[in-house]
Amino acid sequence: MTAVVWILNGPNLGRLGKREPDVYGTASYDDLVATCMSAGEQLGMSIEVRQTDDEATYVRWLHDAEDSGVDALVLNPAAWTHTSVAVRDAAAALRAPFVEVHLSNPLAREEFRHVSYTAGEAVGIVAGFGLDSYRLALQALAARLPT
Ligand code: DQA
Repeated sequence: MTAVVWILNGPNLGRLGKREPDVYGTASYDDLVATCMSAGEQLGMSIEVRQTDDEATYVRWLHDAEDSGVDALVLNPAAWTHTSVAVRDAAAALRAPFVEVHLSNPLAREEFRHVSYTAGEAVGIVAGFGLDSYRLALQALAARLPT
């Protein structure tokens, strides 16, 4: 059966390419979506990619993922990684495995980025590889999912 994988992106990620290109690169959010779709196709996954700047929407999507029986998730909660107990609690309630991803390496940046509320609930973290962080996360999840 084809695994259903949701990729949920948090605030400011819709502005990729325009936003701090020295940190996040010049690839756009559309490029991020295209990378995920193509990786998912190669891995035989059904992929849904979303982005929101609204924390309540992000929490609701996590609830929806749980209720709809999604098989796995890739989460880039962006700034909420470092601030949001609400996102952490919704992620902790997922039965499906998730990988936390970051385009940059938060541990190589400001100290406030060194804390992740969500990472402790993840099966793993991929950070610092730009769009490849997403590709690598999908590969790691594919290896864990039943075929
Ligand atoms: C980010 C890293 C976060 O610290 C930051 O707030 C982001 C993007 C990343 O993908 O590198 O918005 O999650």
